[in-house]
Amino acid sequence: MPDLDRSALIENRINSGILGQWYPVAKSVEVKSISPLGIEVLGEKLVLWRGDNGKVHCIKDQCPHRGAPLSFGRLHEGHISCRYHGIVVSGEGVVVRVPAMQNCKFEGQKIVRAFEVTEIYDAIFIYMPSAENEKAPRMVFPKEFLSDSWSGFLCTAVWKTNYRYALDNLADPMHGSYLHAESFTLAYGAKEDLFKVDHTENGFIVSRTGQLGKNFDWAEFEMHDGTMFCFLDIPYPKAAGPGGNMRIVGFVLPINENSCKVFFWRMREVSGIQRDCWRFLYRTELESKHWTVLEQDREILEAMSDDVRGNEKLYQHDVGVNRIRQTLLKQAKSNVDFELNIEGKS
Ligand code: FES
Ligand SMILES: [Fe+2]
Repeated sequence: MPDLDRSALIENRINSGILGQWYPVAKSVEVKSISPLGIEVLGEKLVLWRGDNGKVHCIKDQCPHRGAPLSFGRLHEGHISCRYHGIVVSGEGVVVRVPAMQNCKFEGQKIVRAFEVTEIYDAIFIYMPSAENEKAPRMVFPKEFLSDSWSGFLCTAVWKTNYRYALDNLADPMHGSYLHAESFTLAYGAKEDLFKVDHTENGFIVSRTGQLGKNFDWAEFEMHDGTMFCFLDIPYPKAAGPGGNMRIVGFVLPINENSCKVFFWRMREVSGIQRDCWRFLYRTELESKHWTVLEQDREILEAMSDDVRGNEKLYQHDVGVNRIRQTLLKQAKSNVDFELNIEGKS
């Protein structure tokens, strides 16, 4: 394979989304046992539903008969049935029944692709297999999900832009002092700074060198086998009630090449009465303020043209942007080289 083709495959893979990763795909409350939910993940149409025992299933959203979307179907006894001619498929992708045809040979066959599912902290995650890792590695959860001392709320939003812009945005703390300068939380600190990137045990942290704890001053990315997420702190003013900073734990789902969905857990390390206070204030006062900030991100990213990468003039404060791009490049190379290796051997 010429190197040019390999480069194109790698670029395409970065653009469509890295395989071999766990991605959040929906809020838990969106997946019900009375009706299926159709979703798109890395350009693939999938369907989710909750089985009778509460377990969430995810299979390809395409009937094995003539390809109708299974998400148009109904749920029966934990399985999904196609709206078009009634084929019943299990959460494992096995055809359970073909009601329009006696003794159909497809009954009992696993002919629909099924995906591994994990549910944690109000969200459904699915694993998108790669050629090198067909079986899902154990998902590594952000430590805040596993600790009782953190309390949080999941907010999700669809952004009509490639997911790479959302990741770049998270790796770019400087924009807090400009784009969000008039906001409730991000109006403070210097408007000029230098940045540095430090290695951490599982990834990297990009931070301002001139100030910490005044604005969106750092962002940390963790990369594990099959899981990538980031977190950052937003200092809270006194009006946000007792407790420390707000921490955002963020995942980004590539829906397709033109849109993504951000999953941001807004969390605070609080307990007892402080915890009740934060949850009350969040619902009554803070949530709408945070949405205003998130909308500023969405609006500017959606307005950026898709081919802007060829015309960028990056400078020192883009060290974090550079680093997250290198991370995606490395992951995409690993995906593509493994696939090419298999092809070469066959
Ligand atoms: S297309 Fe689904 S049963 Fe025919
Ligand atoms: Fe932002």
